[in-house]
Formats: sequence, C-alpha cells, structure tokens
Amino acid sequence: MKDSNYLKEMNARSLWHPMAHPADSLANPPTIITGAKGVRITDVDGHEVVDGVGGLWNVNLGFSCQPVKDAMTAQLDQLPYYSIFRGTTNDVVIQLAEDLRTFFEPDGLTRAFFTSGGSDSVDTALRLARLYHKIRGEAARTKFLSLKKGYHGTHMGGASVNGNANFRTMYEPLMAGCSHIPAPYTYRNPFDETDPERLAQLCLSALEDEIAFQGAGTIAAFIMEPVLGAGGVIVPHPSFMPGVRDICTRNGILLIADEVITAFGRTGSWTGSRHWGVKPDMSCTAKAITNGYFPFGAVMIAEDVAQVFERDETGRAAIGHGYTYSGHPVGAAAALACLAETIRLDVPANATMRGTQMYQGLLALQAKYPLIGDVRGGHGLMAAMELVSNRDTKAPIDKATINTIQEHTYRAGAMVRVSGPNIILSPPLVLEKADVAIILGALDAGFAAVSE
Ligand SMILES: Cc1ncc(COP(=O)(O)O)c(C=O)c1O
Repeated sequence: MKDSNYLKEMNARSLWHPMAHPADSLANPPTIITGAKGVRITDVDGHEVVDGVGGLWNVNLGFSCQPVKDAMTAQLDQLPYYSIFRGTTNDVVIQLAEDLRTFFEPDGLTRAFFTSGGSDSVDTALRLARLYHKIRGEAARTKFLSLKKGYHGTHMGGASVNGNANFRTMYEPLMAGCSHIPAPYTYRNPFDETDPERLAQLCLSALEDEIAFQGAGTIAAFIMEPVLGAGGVIVPHPSFMPGVRDICTRNGILLIADEVITAFGRTGSWTGSRHWGVKPDMSCTAKAITNGYFPFGAVMIAEDVAQVFERDETGRAAIGHGYTYSGHPVGAAAALACLAETIRLDVPANATMRGTQMYQGLLALQAKYPLIGDVRGGHGLMAAMELVSNRDTKAPIDKATINTIQEHTYRAGAMVRVSGPNIILSPPLVLEKADVAIILGALDAGFAAVSE
C-alpha cells in the first residue's frame, strides 16, 4: 500500500463516494480506514477508535470473526464461483437455504431467493410481490405502500418506496403507483401527537384511508422496516407492526418486512418482525448475513406465498429475475459460518444488554446537552440522537456543528455516523460494557466541544 501522504492527497480525486457531494469529498477528505480488529477500527494515521457504526449496520460480529474468514478462504479454494441460474447450482447455497429456513421458521419464512445486497433484496421482493398477484389472477395489484422516513435502498424500486426526499427528488420521476403513509415518529408528525400508542393508531388509520382511496385491489404490497433505521432509528409502538399486518391481511396486500438491518439480532430479537410478534409475507435481508465480509442478501418467503409459485401450472410463476451473484458460493459460505456464529454467541442477548446501557447513556447526555432534542432506541443496539439548535422550536442543528461534534467524538475514541440532523449508533453486537462506555465518553467530549 502507498504511504499515507499519497493516500490523503489522492483521496476522492478519482472516485466518487456514495451518499456524498463530490466537491465536499474533495474539500473535506473522508477518514481513511486501513485496519480493524474486534470492535475497533484504525485509520491511516494509526488512530484507533471503537466503531459505533458497526461498518454500516453490518459488522455485527466485529472485524475479527475468524470462522467467517476461514469459511470464505476455504470456499475460494474449493469453488470461487458458480451461478445458480436455472440449470446449475452449488453445494454451499443448498445448505445455506436449509439453515436459513430453520432460522426463519418462527417467522413463517421457508424459502430463500439470494441477492447481492439490501437494495437487490428490496427490488426482488417488490417484483416477486407483483408476480405473486399476477399468478393468482389479480394482475391489477401493482402498487406499493410504504412509510415516510423509511429507507429501502437506492435501486429504482427501492428509491420509489423510500420515504426520504434526499433519495427521491433529484431522481424523479420514480416508479408510478407508490404512496407513503406518515411514520410513527413521535418527535415530528403531521398529527402533532406525542403519545406513541395513539400515534400508531393514527398512522394505521392513515394506512386504511390510503388503501380505501387507492382501492385495495390495486395494491400489491406494503413494505416497512420493523424499526426504521437510516431514517433516524424510529421505533414504532408495539401495536404498530401487528396493526399493519392485520390491515394487509384484511385487504389481500402482502407485507414485506425490510429487515436489511434488523435481521440477525440488531433489535435484541433474532429478527425485527419477531420482535413485534409479526409474520411477514416476505422479508428482505442482507448486511449482517455475512457480517459485512461479502456483498450478499436473501429475500425470505412465507410458506403460503411460496406455495402459490410452486403450485402454478400456467408457467406464469417462472421468475424472470436474478443476479449474477445470487447464491455466490463464497457469500453462501460466509453466511453459513456467520449464521452459526450468530446463534452460538446468542448476539441478541448481548444486543439487549449493551443496547440498554447505550440508550440510558444517551438519555443522560440529553439531560446535559440542550442540543439533543430527541433520543431514540432502547431496542437492541440501534439508537439515534436528533440534534436541534433550539429545543422549543425543534429547529434542526446546522451541518457545521454536527460535523464538529462527530470530529471531536472521533478524536476522543469513537466513530459515530451523522445523517442529516441525527447521530446514529449501530455498533457491532459483540460490543462489551467498556466499549459502550468509550462511545458515551467520546460523545460527551464531542458535545462538550460545541457547548459553553
Ligand atoms: C432497511 C434497509 N433496506 C435496504 C438497504 C439497502 O441495502 P444496500 O445498501 O446493501 O443496498 C438498507 C441499507 O442501509 C437498509 O437499511
């Protein structure tokens, strides 16, 4: 590798970063990460910090998960690639599908369709939903409903059901027939309702109203994250997702759970749907399925939905969809090892314990710093602080101040993620008590740096 001066000089000169303005990346070069161990990352200057971001919500088992690394290495030697398009398959993906079936059985999900990541999984689920209704003779069911503030990746389908203007406005027109319902977001919502349970009911009423307006017979699916992640860790009231399930069932609408960040323990439960006691019709997974070590994903499909496809005799159920890397053997080997480690370590238990510690610590910071308008979390290891310049008016924080907080937090020992007015935390699920204390202490230093 070239020396650090070369890397800093060339940084962003010949590449565009996702989710960044190219000019901003040139003016403010990103941190160059060159190594990682356990739950810590090291930058090009040798500065080591606790990774409060967990890669990007994906490195649940930390950066030193040897069984996953070993499985990938061995698989590269044995069979580095073979396609699973019609007519061929590979041995590891068959075993993975069996293991995933066992893992997701309590969610009622018994088939897997493999992808290369979260956005792929979302688009796959949307396409399979339309296909499902066409096989059943309800070809008019083509529309999708989703939540404002929801994040579903950046493919055209996912962006169309996305609920954040940042990912939409500059790319319009998006896919026709997508409508958005208010999110159960107590800090800001059109109903001015702060009670989580009452807000959940209002959002459910808005969903019923939209279905009546569009016509149930025109809607293919509703997609939602069990806990909204990238939109700022919005935790719905426990009645919300079961309420959505009930409305979808009554209206013949498929419920797609976007579990790209919530599957495999993040919420303190094995899946986000199970956290709320809901059985979705499909579930999108990716990220932690390989601990972030290989781009991979799976859409899990409910038994009764699968039966509709498998019993079709008209030919309509032929799936005209898939990716070159669907079922990639190295990804499948990584996922097999990752699933086994996730279960062996019982990561949801640690996510619950450490998540509670982290959430309580953030609430203590809120008591100390008026800039922290809202703290969200308390369900496993995902939390956000929404920053405001004025608590009474809830006017959002300016970009420079939140960036300064992040910079000082980093210098004090923790990497945290800034997204709009939110500081988002999604550390590895194998985090220890002392690591949480380091993150909280570093954040304290970050806020102190901008407070009198
Ligand atoms: C809920 C959810 N869905 C989909 C995606 C998109 O996944 P990917 O970035 O792997 O395409 C993400 C990514 O953060 C996500 O959080």
